Amino acid sequence: MSMLEQDVKRDFVKEENTFRVRKHPQSNRLYHIEISDAVIRQFFSELKDMSTERLEYVPYNRFIAAAKLEEIAGTSFSQTINSILHDRASGGFTIGVKEQTNNIGEYILFSTALSHLIGEPNFDAMSGKYYARFTVKDTDNSDSYLRQAYRRFTLHTDGTFVDEPTDWLLMMKMAEEHAVGGESRLLHLDDWKELDRFIKDPLASYEFTYKAPASKNVQEEVKRKTFFLKNNNPCICFIDQFAYPESIQQAKYLRDLSSSMEEDENVIELKLPTGNLVMLNNLFWLHGRAAFEKNVQLHRELLRQRGRFLK
Ligand SMILES: [Fe+2]
Repeated sequence: MSMLEQDVKRDFVKEENTFRVRKHPQSNRLYHIEISDAVIRQFFSELKDMSTERLEYVPYNRFIAAAKLEEIAGTSFSQTINSILHDRASGGFTIGVKEQTNNIGEYILFSTALSHLIGEPNFDAMSGKYYARFTVKDTDNSDSYLRQAYRRFTLHTDGTFVDEPTDWLLMMKMAEEHAVGGESRLLHLDDWKELDRFIKDPLASYEFTYKAPASKNVQEEVKRKTFFLKNNNPCICFIDQFAYPESIQQAKYLRDLSSSMEEDENVIELKLPTGNLVMLNNLFWLHGRAAFEKNVQLHRELLRQRGRFLK
């Protein structure tokens, strides 16, 4: 992509026979894509034999599912979602299966088709699969904030402690009962008021050590710069829980950076109905989760995939 192309602010709002794209009601950065009922029905009907097991056991089936979605929704659909995710001014959209299904297998199938139109998911060591499902409920004894319902899960990017590119992230809501709060908190790097302050600090390009807790099943340590450039634009790699500073000064830099983002007025608290998903460019979007209100019956399940863009 040339610099010229990047500088032009693009607008992806459109209406086609098989889908339409609108500005997201909660953010000027995000789009909401609505696929027509007929396309969703045809996709599930033509892939009715594509079980979760077949997707998990035979990797090529994941791309076959993507090809089917593209065949039915049109190449303009896959071009649009790719362009949005690569677009610096946006880099994110929501989409869902609407009321067409609440079948978990079909949720997995739909999210798999979408992710494989964008790229290839990384192996998720936490689940041992190309995707992971995780539940938040009233009680939790794990070793990170991922499943702790009543604390805010602070803004971060994914893939900090693995040694492979994590260009994009997909989160789909699989189930939600007795849940108040718990919205995904999102921040586009260019909306962060104090970006300049932290990017100009000498520690911006310091290689911090990242180590994962036991539950992630990742043993290696990696060194990561907090800020780096891609296509001449600043990108970020950060999660407070797994960064290991080596001095008081470094600890203060990380703490101040995290609290500055948390307090930023441009953080969005995204409403995502069950059966819907959000896809984000993980290089310049940060994500986290608001705390839930206490409820002993709380049950919320998300599916995640993250990976690299297509070569
Ligand atoms: Fe995350």
